[in-house]
Amino acid sequence: MKTHSIALLPGDGIGRPVTEAAWAVLQATAKASGFALEGTTFPWSCDFYRQTGVMMPTDGIETLRRFDAILLGAVGWPAEVPDSVSLHGLLLPIRKAFTQYANIRPHRLLPGVPGPLKSDTFDILCIRENTEGEYSGAGGRVHQGTADEVAIETCIFTRKGVERILRFGFEQARVRRGKLASVTKSNAQKHTMVFWDEITRELAAEYPDIEVTSYHIDAMAARMIMAPETLDVVVASNLFGDILTDLGAAIQGGLGFAASANINPDRTAPSMFEPVHGSAPDIAHLGIANPIAAIWSGAMMLDHLGERDAAARVLAAIEATTKDGIGTIPGKDKTEATTRAVLERL
Ligand code: NAD
Ligand code: IPM
Ligand code: MN
Repeated sequence: MKTHSIALLPGDGIGRPVTEAAWAVLQATAKASGFALEGTTFPWSCDFYRQTGVMMPTDGIETLRRFDAILLGAVGWPAEVPDSVSLHGLLLPIRKAFTQYANIRPHRLLPGVPGPLKSDTFDILCIRENTEGEYSGAGGRVHQGTADEVAIETCIFTRKGVERILRFGFEQARVRRGKLASVTKSNAQKHTMVFWDEITRELAAEYPDIEVTSYHIDAMAARMIMAPETLDVVVASNLFGDILTDLGAAIQGGLGFAASANINPDRTAPSMFEPVHGSAPDIAHLGIANPIAAIWSGAMMLDHLGERDAAARVLAAIEATTKDGIGTIPGKDKTEATTRAVLERL
């Protein structure tokens, strides 16, 4: 029997119950579809940090490299460990070390979910650059704690990095509705963002079949609210993509519905699948985290592993669940009840 080995990183807060939910659904799907998923759980998290002083062991990246894919819940418990420590000790190094340069985040309304907008027909695929840009980590602080203190955070955009994420976007547009929106702020940031716009134009010449439009990030934020149905594939830098995808989550009914895949398109290292949301400390002990974003992310993992029918079955089970009004209103249904409903519909 074909077996896929999966590293499970539930992480912190609601990362744990939603990963458990996704894993239960994925296991049931695998069983019904004739393949196996072998999971290995790693306790790397803020709790782990408090016990050991590190978010993951020094050979953590090499340990993860052996797996076919990674399923992650959420990382961060700011009351105990600063986010600048926890995220830079686990989530962000994985994305970079495994060249997961394409962060894919679908935004559409599931059946039965009451979105906040008049428009309910949008189907947006956000593609976020995931390894450089504003998240390069280049910078520093000097004269700390004095009146002369200085903090610098340098955005790094490379031709290689910008070209490959845009090319990825063009290819996605080709298999979708043929429209690509490239997002920058080139009216204000005259080096990196002008560079991004130029590369967009260069590549557009190679893809004459794709309708390309460049938008400024501020206008894109408004468009996602006012006219989301006009958008197909949206490509943005690391930070802009981060912000737009929480907006995307909001228009699809909430963070509990927003799935994501951190893809290494060259398959030289494992890809990682995780919901867009974080550890949600405000609801972590209430048992009401919506597991749909994590389950949908799991479906994206199956698709990436070549189990397309199984992935489609999971998505269909999610849609049948929300169509019946289960898991559609944030806070209404227990995590367990929504998960059970998805399992029943599988
Ligand atoms: P968050 O996404 O955790 O929560 C934002 C709001 O959305 C909260 O009110 C929360 O209750 C709600 N929410 C999120 N997911 C939900 C779900 N599945 N069901 C119902 N409601 C849900 O963002 P935050 O509060 O800014 O961050 C909390 C922690 O998570 C921080 O440490 C942050 O850095 C971290 N974080 C981690 C990731 C990740 O690991 N991928 C992503 C985002 C934030
Ligand atoms: C996300 C998260 C992360 C990001 C944080 C936790 C570093 O917000 O995956 O969207 O900004 O990439
Ligand atoms: Mn985010």
